[in-house]
Amino acid sequence: MAIILGIESSCDETSASICINGEIHSNVIATQAIHAKYGGVVPELASRAHQQNIIPTVDEAIRQAKISKNQIDAVSFTRGPGLLGALLVGTSFAKSFALAQNIPLIDINHMQAHILAHFIEEPKPSFPFLCLTVSGGHTQIVLVKDCFEMELLGETLDDAAGEAFDKTAKILNLPYPGGPLIDKYASQGNSNMYKLPEPQIPGLNFSFSGLKTAILYLVQDQLKQNPDFLTENIADLCASVQSRIVSILLNKLKKAAKETGVKDIAIAGGVSANSGLRKGLIEMGQQYRWNVFIPKFEYCTDNAAMIAIAGYHKYLKGDFVGQDVAPMARMHL
Ligand code: KG4
Ligand code: ZN
Repeated sequence: MAIILGIESSCDETSASICINGEIHSNVIATQAIHAKYGGVVPELASRAHQQNIIPTVDEAIRQAKISKNQIDAVSFTRGPGLLGALLVGTSFAKSFALAQNIPLIDINHMQAHILAHFIEEPKPSFPFLCLTVSGGHTQIVLVKDCFEMELLGETLDDAAGEAFDKTAKILNLPYPGGPLIDKYASQGNSNMYKLPEPQIPGLNFSFSGLKTAILYLVQDQLKQNPDFLTENIADLCASVQSRIVSILLNKLKKAAKETGVKDIAIAGGVSANSGLRKGLIEMGQQYRWNVFIPKFEYCTDNAAMIAIAGYHKYLKGDFVGQDVAPMARMHL
């Protein structure tokens, strides 16, 4: 019997989850609405909100799992990568909780946890598998050899895929976070309406900054002729942007699958909630006979269930850290 409390606080969601013997029994997420009016996450405000939210969020996760805090065997927390002030709140909470309860402390890499979210429920991929991890801060193609043995095959050279969604959304006058809104409008638009460039980046790396510039020039040009250009064409613009971001991602994933010969292919991270990416991956999987793995929506964006499940797998190995552990804004896989 192993009961793990997982804590996530790397960006703008405060989350706590209880994992009992590898099964998630609660996953409580307090989203910070405060950032919307600033058009992006304000680190200082994020830290303050985590500080306010963390105890009620943990209490609620324990309540929903119908356990008492004295039954918890270990606490796992996001050590990085992320906003340092935000990570400090979760890290300090986890350390204090471990000390007070006299239980082990487990540090988790947030990007590994996004991938390990695939081990929350069936069907689970088998090793080795490829994972395209796409979030607000990262875009990576990872060869996953074992739970904590991951090789980075390619990554973005500039903006992350989530940033590409959010920054283009800003140009299109949509509020933050723009990704889900682009997704919504895209479903009503024609993706062939605007031709956007596909960058020619060697190997398995990505670049999204050219796309952002192309959209900016297109919008500036069109607005000179028609001040209502954005409102009149929002669906076609969103569909064209989404389709280009998805094709950039999937073409590299196809290349990685060909080069490695791996047939189990997963996506993870906030952008894996995108309906165009999910649909595109399923179609590509049918064409190339891949086994594709797409997380449930609740496990795509930031959540503590992925931290708790990763914590459970480290707990089984006895892989713990001491009270001197410090969070890391940058952290490799
Ligand atoms: O993984 P995540 O929750 O946080 C980070 O670790 O960054 O990812 C957040 C990112 C944001 O950029 C957000 O716009 C994007 O995921 N996102 C989406 C969708 N849902 C969230 N992007 C496109 N389509 C969506 N449906
Ligand atoms: Zn994330």
